[in-house]
Amino acid sequence: MQLRVSSFEDVKESAQPRAAQPRVFPLPLLKIFLPLFALVAVGFSVFGVYVTRRIGVLPAAAVGGLFRPLCVEEPPSLDRWVRPPADLMHSMNDEELFWRASWVPQVKKYPFKRVPKVAFMFLTRGPLPLSPLWEKFFRGHEGRYSIYVHALPSYQANFTSASVFYERQIPSKVSEWGQMSMCDAERRLLANALLDISNEWFVLLSESCVPLLSFNITYQYLIRSRYSFVGVTDDRGPYGRGRYNASMAPEVTIEQWRKGSQWFQVKRKLAVSIIKDTTYYPKFEKFCRPHCYVDEHYFPTMLAIQSPNLLANRSLSWVDWSRGGAHPATFGKVDVTEAFLKRIIGGRNCSYNDQPSRICYLFARKFAPSSLGPLLQLAPIPLGLG
Ligand SMILES: *[C@@H]1O[C@H](CO)[C@@H](O)[C@H](O)[C@H]1NC(C)=O
Ligand SMILES: *[C@@H]1O[C@H](CO)[C@@H](O)[C@H](O)[C@H]1NC(C)=O
Ligand SMILES: *[C@@H]1O[C@H](CO)[C@@H](O)[C@H](O)[C@H]1NC(C)=O
Ligand SMILES: *[C@@H]1O[C@H](CO)[C@@H](O)[C@H](O)[C@H]1NC(C)=O
Ligand SMILES: *[C@@H]1O[C@H](CO)[C@@H](O)[C@H](O)[C@H]1NC(C)=O
Repeated sequence: MQLRVSSFEDVKESAQPRAAQPRVFPLPLLKIFLPLFALVAVGFSVFGVYVTRRIGVLPAAAVGGLFRPLCVEEPPSLDRWVRPPADLMHSMNDEELFWRASWVPQVKKYPFKRVPKVAFMFLTRGPLPLSPLWEKFFRGHEGRYSIYVHALPSYQANFTSASVFYERQIPSKVSEWGQMSMCDAERRLLANALLDISNEWFVLLSESCVPLLSFNITYQYLIRSRYSFVGVTDDRGPYGRGRYNASMAPEVTIEQWRKGSQWFQVKRKLAVSIIKDTTYYPKFEKFCRPHCYVDEHYFPTMLAIQSPNLLANRSLSWVDWSRGGAHPATFGKVDVTEAFLKRIIGGRNCSYNDQPSRICYLFARKFAPSSLGPLLQLAPIPLGLG
């Protein structure tokens, strides 16, 4: 091995006496030198084994590489599959991304300490006016959440490096309400978040969403839940079954047709089901056209057919439809009072892990930018954000 030869020469040089000597080694010197050589050789072997264990592969080139400037690519280790992508921007198209994101380990036990994270996925057109409230919500809980933002491709986010939203934008495309491009954006968020093996829950939020409870309560509520939270109802009226198109059969029958809010909170297993679906997607794309509002039907219907037993059949995002009309109420500065927030958080009964629970919502919408001031002021009291 080249390495040992060169070190042999180093040793030989240092072992040579200062004064002029015959070219032939005197025997007594050889007696000192031989054990020394053996020691150095053993040292390198041990070092070689150590390097092999550390980085896996050990051709001579790899060891040589340690002594030359390191230009060889880092050999694969488990860390490569565990570490989240360093940069959320990538050059994969949707087809490539969904394929990669659909990888699922078949050995269920993780061979490393996995702290489950909650992926908060913001589906927005551009700015996040309520981001200061979210900053407060996330602060101090690093390692248990990750953030993804899907905005219009033309939008340039300007968060500073101190922000939790800094460089959390994913490659995005134009998406429009009620169209398949909206479901595509949601699947894109899920797929990007799936690339981090530690993400266990996937929460879809809009720029008008606010957290209602502290991070710790939110985290525990999700992590301990047996069911994923997707609003699933069988609305027999014109805005429910009335939107069904018989051409969707046999994949989807009118009895299987469901409606629900798009703002879901799902576990990893369902996130994978959503991004890998090729059975229902073409049917919805083709037959759930404008005035069908595909984002209200595709995921609830598909999941209710495929995995009914994994669904809580309700969403954790509160919204107020009581005013009637096509859009839910939006709350501004004057609406946000302590009593208002307490009314949203409590005063309701629902089922959680098959037990009655008073906490039914973790998030609420829709809040206008003007609500930020009172929300930040009230946050330490009913929201427990402090
Ligand atoms: C980012 O841009 C918006 C306007 O687009 C501006 O209101 C805001 O102050 C900017 N934020 C920072 C941190 O520069
Ligand atoms: C939240 O939970 C973490 C981890 O369990 C804990 O270290 C921290 O003290 C908790 N924070 C609050 C405000 O309870
Ligand atoms: C079903 O969808 C097709 C294709 O979009 C359309 O031509 C047809 O009129 C629809 N049928 C109903 C009952 O809406
Ligand atoms: C949700 O609804 C499905 C039927 O669509 C049912 O099988 C399932 O048990 C329901 N989930 C809960 C938590 O009740
Ligand atoms: C919730 O259930 C409790 C008893 O389980 C009942 O006393 C209370 O009135 C219920 N609240 C609502 C809003 O239904």
